Amino acid sequence: MPSLPISNIFITLTVVSVIFVSNVADDVPKIPYELVNNVCKKQWNEQFCLEVLKSDTRSEFAKDMTTLTAIALNVATKRVTATRDCFLEVKIGSPAVLKSLNDCIDPYNFVITSFQTCLKEDDCSLIGYDIYIAGDEVRRCQKFADSNGAHDSFITTSNNVTQDYCWLGESLANLMCNEIRS
Ligand SMILES: *[C@@H]1O[C@H](CO)[C@@H](O)[C@H](O)[C@H]1NC(C)=O
Repeated sequence: MPSLPISNIFITLTVVSVIFVSNVADDVPKIPYELVNNVCKKQWNEQFCLEVLKSDTRSEFAKDMTTLTAIALNVATKRVTATRDCFLEVKIGSPAVLKSLNDCIDPYNFVITSFQTCLKEDDCSLIGYDIYIAGDEVRRCQKFADSNGAHDSFITTSNNVTQDYCWLGESLANLMCNEIRS
C-alpha cells in the first residue's frame, strides 16, 4: 500500500494544525468586544467608555486590560491635544473666554503629558494616580473659566469631556493593575 504513508502524513498534519489553531484561538475572546462590553458595563459613563474603546479596532478581540488602557490613553491624548490646539487657535471671543483659554494652556499641557507618559511608571499604581492628578488640572482650568466669567462657554463643555477621559483612564489603569497583580 504505497499511498498510505502519504495520506497518513496528510491526516497527521491536518490534525496537528487544527489543534494548533484551536489552541491559539483559545487565547482570544471569540465574541467581538466581549472584554470592552464587560468593562464598560462597570464604568459610570458606559456609553462614553464604549465609544472611546470601540473607536480603535484593536479593542475588538482584546484580551487584557493593558490593551484597553493603552487604547483609551491613546484616544484621550489625541482628543485632548486637539482641544488644546483649538484653545490656542481661538482668537475671537469675549475677554473672559480669551483670558480663560490662555490660562488653560498650562493645565492642558500637563494633562496631555500625563496621558503620554503615565504608562512608563515602574509602579503600576502610580499610573492611575498620574491620571487622577491630571483631573485636578482640568478642574484648575474650570476654576479659571468660572472666575473669569466664562462658565457658560465651550471651555466648560471641553473640560467635561476631558474630565471624562481622566475618569475613564484612571479606572481602566486601576483595573489593569489589579489584573497584573492577580
Ligand atoms: C459639565 O459637568 C458638570 C458636572 O458634571 C455639569 O453640571 C454641567 O452641566 C456640564 N456642563 C456642560 C456644558 O456640559
